[in-house]
Amino acid sequence: MKITVRAGAPKSVKADALALGMFNDGKPLAAYTAVNAALGGVLDDMRRRGELRGRRGEVHVLPAGKRLGAKRVILVGLGERATFHPETLARYAGQAVRTAAARGLAYLAVVIPEPLPFSASLGLENATEGALMATFDPSPYRSAKDRRPDAVGTVTFIVEKPDTARSLSDAVRRGSILGEAANVVREMVNAPSNEMTPTHLARRAADLGRKHGVKVSILERADMKRLGMGSMLAVAAGSDEPPKAIIMEYRGNPRSKTTLGLVGKGITFDTGGISLKPATDMDAMKGDMAGGAAVIGAMAAIAQLRPAINVVGIVMATENMPSGKATKPGDVVRAMNGKSIEIINTDAEGRLVLADGLCYARKLGATHLVDIATLTGAAVVALGNTSTAVMANDRQLVDLFHEAAAPYGERYWELPLFPEYAELIKSPIADMKNSGGRQAGSIFAAMFLKEFVEGTPWVHLDIAGTSWTDKENGHLVKGPTAVSMRPLVRLAELLAERPVHTKADEAAHQRLTPAVPTA
Ligand code: BES
Ligand code: MN
Ligand code: ZN
Repeated sequence: MKITVRAGAPKSVKADALALGMFNDGKPLAAYTAVNAALGGVLDDMRRRGELRGRRGEVHVLPAGKRLGAKRVILVGLGERATFHPETLARYAGQAVRTAAARGLAYLAVVIPEPLPFSASLGLENATEGALMATFDPSPYRSAKDRRPDAVGTVTFIVEKPDTARSLSDAVRRGSILGEAANVVREMVNAPSNEMTPTHLARRAADLGRKHGVKVSILERADMKRLGMGSMLAVAAGSDEPPKAIIMEYRGNPRSKTTLGLVGKGITFDTGGISLKPATDMDAMKGDMAGGAAVIGAMAAIAQLRPAINVVGIVMATENMPSGKATKPGDVVRAMNGKSIEIINTDAEGRLVLADGLCYARKLGATHLVDIATLTGAAVVALGNTSTAVMANDRQLVDLFHEAAAPYGERYWELPLFPEYAELIKSPIADMKNSGGRQAGSIFAAMFLKEFVEGTPWVHLDIAGTSWTDKENGHLVKGPTAVSMRPLVRLAELLAERPVHTKADEAAHQRLTPAVPTA
C-alpha cells in the first residue's frame, strides 16, 4: 500500500473514495461542511433524521455523483471529541480502508480531522498504522479469494496546510514500518501450529533479520543442554519438533552501557503436556507464541528505525506436548541460573521457558528486561480482553513503558508483587514450584519469573487476554492484535534518550519504604 500526505480541499480531491470523520457532538468539522454543501445538504439531512450521529464505529457510504472530485464519500464516526486520541485516527483510517476495500475502491483519500489535540506526528503515525493494519488478511488459508482486504492500493491523507503535509512524511514512514511489523506479527500468530513450528518461527526471524540487518542466531537443543537450560528443555521434552531459542541482536550504540533485553514466550502449541488441557478452545493455543512474535516484530521495526541503543530479543520457542518422553508432574529440573524447580503442573510451561530466556538475556548483557507472554488464564479472569496485566520490579522502567504505550490506545494495568507473595511459589522439595493453588495466578507466575531477573530492572507483560480479539473494530479484525509490539519499539527509543538505573529499586516500586508510620 502506498501512503502519502498532502494538503488540499476535500471537495476537489480526486479519488475513488473520500473518507471524512465525524464526532458525536453535532459540531461538524470543516471538511464535513464543504462536502455537505457540495452534495446539496444531504449530510445535514441525514443528521436531522438521526441517521448520521458520529458514534464510534459508525460508517456510511454515499455516492458523490459528479459533485465531488471523489466518487464516494465514506463517513466514519469518531465518537466522543473528549476522548480524541492518536489511536482514534488508527481506528478511523482502518475503518475507512476496510470499508473501501470491501467495495473494491482502490484509491482512498482520508481527511485528517483537524485541529488535532495531540502531536500531528503521533496522529499521522497512528493513521498510517491503522490503514496498514486494516489490510491484514485473517483467512489466508481459504481457497475462495472473494475477499480482498488489500484492495486499497493508495491512501492519501489530506491535511489543511502544505507545511504540515511536508513535515509529516517521517511520521508516515514510521507508521509504515510499525504497521507492516504489526501485520507480520499477526500473520505469525494466526498461522496454525502445523505450519508455525519452532523451526518455522526461527526461519521467519532469520529472514526478517537478514532483510533488516539484525544478527540472528539459534540455540539448538544441544546448545541449551550445554548452557544448562533445564527449565526450557523440560517443556520441550515431550515434543518431536526441535526447540529453538531465537536470539536477535541489534547494536544501535556500541558505546552505550544500556542493553534492553526483550524476552518472548514462543510456545507454538500448548496442549498443556501431561497436565493436558481440555479439548474446548484448545485450538486457540496455536497463538501461545504471541509474545515471541511481538519480540520478533519489534526487533524488525527497531532495526529499521535505528534508535541509539542496544537491544537483544530472545524468543523461547517450543511445543508443549504430552508423550512418553514428556516431563511429568513432580519432576524437578534446574534452570540456567542453578535454581531448582518442582514442576507441579506441566501446563504452567510459559514461566519455565521464560526463566531460561531471562537468564540468557542477562548473560548477553541485558541491563533492562521486558518479558512478554500469553502466560495465565488468570490474567483474562482479572482484566478480561481489555487490558494487559503488567508486573514489574522497578517504578522508573515501568513508568517509561507506560509512557511508551500511551500513543497506541492499548490498555495496561499493574498488579503488585509484594514480598508476601513469595510464599506462593515455595516448594517442599526444590527452590520453587511452577504452579500452586487458585490464588493470584498471574502474580504467582510473575513472582516465579522474578527469581530469574535477579535485581535487573524488569517489566513483565501478561498478554493472555489481549493478544487476540473476537471483535471487528476499526483497524482490527477478529484475530491477532500484535499487542505490545509498538510499545516495545517505543520503549527502546525512550530508553535510548533517557537513562534508567540498572539496579531495580524494588522497595520504592512496591511502595514499601514508608512501611513504618512515624506518627
Ligand atoms: N498459555 C496458557 C495461558 C493462556 C490461557 C493463554 C488462556 C491464553 C488464553 C498457559 O500456558 C497456561 O496454560 N497457564 C495455566 C497456568 C496454570 C496451570 C497454573 C493457566 O492459566 O491455566
Ligand atoms: Mn500452558
Ligand atoms: Zn502456554
